Amino acid sequence: MKTRVLAAPEGLEPAAKLLAAGQLVALPTETVYGLGAAALDPLACARIFEAKERPLSDPLIVHLPDTQWLDCLARPNALAIRLANEFWPGPLTLVLPRQNLVPDLVTAGQKTVALRMSAHPVFAEVSRIYGRPIAAPSANRFGRISSTSASHVLTELGGRIPLIIDAGPCLHGIESTIVRVHEHGVEILRHGPVTEERLSQFAAVLAPRQGTLTPGSMQSHYAPETRLILLEKLGGELADKREADFPARTGFLLWSSSGKGLRFVEHLSSTQDLREAAANLYGAMRRLDEAHLELIVAERVPETGLGVAIMERLRKAAARE
Ligand code: TXA
Ligand code: MG
Repeated sequence: MKTRVLAAPEGLEPAAKLLAAGQLVALPTETVYGLGAAALDPLACARIFEAKERPLSDPLIVHLPDTQWLDCLARPNALAIRLANEFWPGPLTLVLPRQNLVPDLVTAGQKTVALRMSAHPVFAEVSRIYGRPIAAPSANRFGRISSTSASHVLTELGGRIPLIIDAGPCLHGIESTIVRVHEHGVEILRHGPVTEERLSQFAAVLAPRQGTLTPGSMQSHYAPETRLILLEKLGGELADKREADFPARTGFLLWSSSGKGLRFVEHLSSTQDLREAAANLYGAMRRLDEAHLELIVAERVPETGLGVAIMERLRKAAARE
């Protein structure tokens, strides 16, 4: 299959038409690029699993065109409605009890459904034209690094999908925060752009419950093909240690070290800005991965605010099953 890449204005109508015809379209969101399909059409959703080589046990996030759809697909409690009003459109996904309208394939047969509304103008416009919910996981092959640009999507899924809409790099660069909504608070299943600090202004943040791990959130995820390790101690030490301790073709994903004298280096942020680091994370990881190195050494970032979400990705990238 030939994959077309179109810029936003020309691509909007064709994207909505493809969705209506049960086909796949890669679309930009404010977090990462999504691989969209008609959420209420099980055959269309099946194509997502096929294109991504994703196991059927891993449920999909459904993106709503507007809040009116919330009650059609889920049974939100008062807290869920408050969170939706506060954070939608935006990078917060709510896991809620599902309605029967949602295909089993989308929820992997569970009693809950994950819902969000994208704030990206292109995604919002395609949603408006199409007028129905869009199921969209990140636009990468299963287990690989999420795509934060159209060229990443082409590398991952070129030849497997008919259309990619190119709207440049994604604002946040990491996937949405996912929370399971309980009666009296939320449980964070995946950290993301809506930080725990921010959530706690609107809801009690409950300790993670045993056995409610995000399905599909196996340890190793977001993984480059090259082995990646996290370095606990940094600074001058990194430069001193490198020759002795690491193979010659080692890439460095740096937060605060200068990287002077190192050959394969990516800086997450020149100003130690966690937002910039999040936005650069997957692109930088991908460039190092494509350099066919023996090893990638990643520096830890501070685990405050958005740093929690970044470290969650780095740990998963470092985990080998
Ligand atoms: O930012 C994002 O959330 C992006 C953009 C495209 O919207 N999407 C995304 O989707 O990251 P995906 O499929 O790559 O990750 C969604 C995660 C998966 O780990 C899945 O297991 C989990 O959400 N999930 C989906 N439905 C769930 C449910 N009912 N309960 C718990 N976890 C769920
Ligand atoms: Mg994903």
